[in-house]
Amino acid sequence: MDASVYAARRARLAREMHHGVAVIPTAPERTRNRDAQYPYRFDSYFYYLTGFREPDAVLVLVADEGKPKSVLFCREKDPEREIWDGFRFGPEAARETFGFDDAHAAARLDERMPELLSNQPALFCHLGADAAWDTRVMRWVNDVRGRARAGVSAPQTISDVHAYLDEMRLVKDAAEIDVMRRAAQISTGAHRRAMSAAKPGVGEFEIEAELMHEFRRHGAQAPAYTSIVASGDHACVLHYVENADVLRDGELVLIDAGCELDGYASDITRTFPVNGRFSTPQRELYELVLAAQRAAIAEVKPGAHWNQGHDAAVKVLAQGFIDLGLLEGSVSEVIESEAYKKFYMHRTGHWLGLDVHDAGDYKRDGEWRELVPGMVLTVEPGCYVRPGPGVPERYAGIGIRIEDDALVTDSGCEIITAAAPKSVAEIEALMRG
Ligand code: GLY
Ligand code: MN
Ligand code: MN
Repeated sequence: MDASVYAARRARLAREMHHGVAVIPTAPERTRNRDAQYPYRFDSYFYYLTGFREPDAVLVLVADEGKPKSVLFCREKDPEREIWDGFRFGPEAARETFGFDDAHAAARLDERMPELLSNQPALFCHLGADAAWDTRVMRWVNDVRGRARAGVSAPQTISDVHAYLDEMRLVKDAAEIDVMRRAAQISTGAHRRAMSAAKPGVGEFEIEAELMHEFRRHGAQAPAYTSIVASGDHACVLHYVENADVLRDGELVLIDAGCELDGYASDITRTFPVNGRFSTPQRELYELVLAAQRAAIAEVKPGAHWNQGHDAAVKVLAQGFIDLGLLEGSVSEVIESEAYKKFYMHRTGHWLGLDVHDAGDYKRDGEWRELVPGMVLTVEPGCYVRPGPGVPERYAGIGIRIEDDALVTDSGCEIITAAAPKSVAEIEALMRG
């Protein structure tokens, strides 16, 4: 993404702040064990405003009515460390490459912050997530307060900067939509590849490896979340991530996997038969979930509210559960009593973006949020029949979810993950081929 995209976002945040100073750190590096680190992932808010991917960095944005100033604190150049860990920009090159007004060594943050906060009316930061960071921020504020007798004033308000950024992140700009389309494209290819590779005797872990191969060979940096490859009744465990079993003839396999490309997530679920042919009970439940998903997708359009898709999916599923003998009563009774939750216990979607469960409120002033063009969300109904008393034998152990990523457009929505086969006919044809 061009540096001007990030500069424009900083300018917009500054306009919305009006005055004061925002301080936004990136994520810390985390040790996995001894000298091994978890793969590094920058903080989404920080990245949204900078495009800068190195750890140990902080963005300071001074709003100053109409003349905002961006200051980056980052790691210094270090020829010795760069031999071990690779290139780092250093403040000077970071300032130039990423278009900041100023840049300093991260080690100077504590020394510079009281100065930057002096005579500023407001501080915008995110407190409560990291006690060490909170203490550090309060130390700067108290330092400025301590200068009162010298005529210096300290910020009088502290606001949550995430609240401003959540609103911005909720509606994607053109550059974000472009990356999300590409991430979706890579992930649909991975699902097709997984379908082609699946057959009785193959390990869930081998399918996971096929997904990963497809993500990485197209330049995606990582999975956006731990891939789920759940065969048989493992599919009834919503967050099954062991992926340690073997695919068996006659069973379904549920794959929930999506790549992260340049910070942006995709999130797709497909469920298909290991041997390439749906059995009758599998097909009955599959067609029901697919009908629920179609009903939910029809509600993804500008002016609709967030929960319309969920309501539509629940209505279709409730009717289906009754028709198939999984539940008794009328649709309204099954919905009213929440009996349907025995087989459908999660919600039908979430915002999608830099985070797989992305930033943004689902309600405003107590009302479900209205959809507007540029929002991206998942539509992912499912049906999970755990074996147990009263559960028809023909459906016991079947778990199905179908998940796509939808971009709200001017007239409805675009399913950016449509290239992953979804109808029974499409899936069976791909698996025959
Ligand atoms: N893969 C996470 C989710 O579907 O919400
Ligand atoms: Mn999802
Ligand atoms: Mn998912």
